[in-house]
Amino acid sequence: KARTITNICCIGAGYVGGPTMAVIAQKCPHIKVTVVDINAQRIADWNDVDLNKLPIYEPGLADVVAEARGRNLFFSTDVDQAIDEAEMIFISVNTPTKTYGVGKGMAADLKYIELCARQIARVSKDDKIIVEKSTLPVRTAEALRTILTSTGNGVNFEILSSPEFLAEGTAIQDLMNPDRFLIGGEQTESGEAAVQSLVDIYANWVPRENIVTTRVWSSELSKLTANAFLAQRVSSINAISALCERTGADVDEIARAIGKDSRIGAKFIKSSVGFGGSCFQKDILNLVYLCQHFNLPEVAAYWEQVIKMNDYQKHRFAKKMIDSLFNTVSGKKIAFLGWAFKKDTNDTRESAAIYVADELLQDRAEIHVYDPKVTEEQIFADLEYLQEHRPNSCHSSEFEKLSSDEIRSLVTVHNDPYEAMKSAHATAILTEWDEFKTYDWKRVYNKMLKPAFVFDGRNIVSKTDLEQIGFRVYNIGKGE
Ligand code: UDX
Ligand code: UDX
Ligand code: ADP
Repeated sequence: KARTITNICCIGAGYVGGPTMAVIAQKCPHIKVTVVDINAQRIADWNDVDLNKLPIYEPGLADVVAEARGRNLFFSTDVDQAIDEAEMIFISVNTPTKTYGVGKGMAADLKYIELCARQIARVSKDDKIIVEKSTLPVRTAEALRTILTSTGNGVNFEILSSPEFLAEGTAIQDLMNPDRFLIGGEQTESGEAAVQSLVDIYANWVPRENIVTTRVWSSELSKLTANAFLAQRVSSINAISALCERTGADVDEIARAIGKDSRIGAKFIKSSVGFGGSCFQKDILNLVYLCQHFNLPEVAAYWEQVIKMNDYQKHRFAKKMIDSLFNTVSGKKIAFLGWAFKKDTNDTRESAAIYVADELLQDRAEIHVYDPKVTEEQIFADLEYLQEHRPNSCHSSEFEKLSSDEIRSLVTVHNDPYEAMKSAHATAILTEWDEFKTYDWKRVYNKMLKPAFVFDGRNIVSKTDLEQIGFRVYNIGKGE
């Protein structure tokens, strides 16, 4: 018999847990939703009366939080109490790629998940439904079950997998009108009842036919597969962009032409400086690791190529900049428009901008960054982190490690885009923020050094218009 849920807790108040729980709370006023996190500052920010201080930026999120917070949506650091009171517990903690030991650089680091499981086992006094929301390697549910049942004191745990498919920048829209919600559960009577409990929650606003139920492992593997397919589309069109630049073709025309084929579809074939974000690279590496583990080297190599193509695309862009600027950017002022991995988010994880900057810094360029939503500390933190965790791609194997001081002396972060571009040798567009399209490019041109270069990594400004002003423009995948 499916249990009617009235009290939910979510462990992890990040990009996934925060927006997802805010929407569940808004759509289900009869359910008390408590989001907990060990990061006290994050919780304080979620509770800030000033909605501009929410820890993550997502269009529409502040309104949802304003409506539900204090009514049936709560943010707290008291993890034990929230676990104790909840009938259903979502786990949305981070699962970064391992930076040490077995599976370093590929496998997902499950230490945060394991800590959660142990905490749930310790605290729970009655039966609970546990929902994995983070992206996890296939069979994590089984690991969770092992920990919970072997350390729990006679309490029954049902484990579901319900991966999140929201994309950042459109999280609220994706949650309110999802293509599908996915739930994986055990094919036992109690498993099916647990699945039904979660279906009943989602059904408060999602049409039943858009709620897909599967067995647990299919659900876990669907998340990796979806992200691998999406990333592959971007790498595929980016591969073609390199060919376009050598020939007389235009990659945006090609995308338009092939996108009309309904078997291919028009979405997710926009050529760019390379994909970023917390999911694509991590999930593909995870998939590759799984394939290797199950002794499928050909399958592993197939998916790994999607990552290699992405590394190549970022490198190609940086190299194009250096080549065009007369083979050196040393001591030259380079403006970066955008640091986030895509528009409408303040998230910078795996952003192409970080890798392009790193490559230019090797040549000691002076980089001046403007991003409408990313903080200065975040930009320095991203560059500093990369020095310690630079992946072993063919292009960066000989890169030097830069010290914090070197990074801080070479990189300047601006609040005003025109200041960032003033007296610059070149401007590079790394994120497709809408506001970049409407800048007064004539004014920018007058303030930049000549010849003034624009490297458009997102194909968002008009090459013809800019060339008419006098710029030298390079964009992605446009043959002459
Ligand atoms: C293809 C293109 O679809 C068509 O646009 C082009 O003009 C010519 O080449 P065709 O080769 O006739 O057409 O058939 P298609 O339907 O594309 O199938 C190609 C192969 O892929 C077949 O063996 C088919 O069985 C297989 N296939 C197709 C799958 O295995 N799975 C699928 O989901 C689709
Ligand atoms: C992705 C998936 O879309 C989402 O379903 C999953 O739950 C999490 O991972 P996200 O990483 O937030 O979401 O953003 P997404 O819109 O998928 O973009 C990923 C990267 O690909 C961005 O850097 C984006 O700029 C790039 N991209 C996307 C392109 O370069 N071209 C495209 O056509 C689409
Ligand atoms: P995602 O994009 O997957 O949501 P984030 O890093 O934005 O990732 O969010 C994950 C959150 O989970 C972080 O705020 C982190 O502090 C929190 N977290 C990690 N481990 C625990 C834990 N054991 N208990 C509570 N919160 C945790």
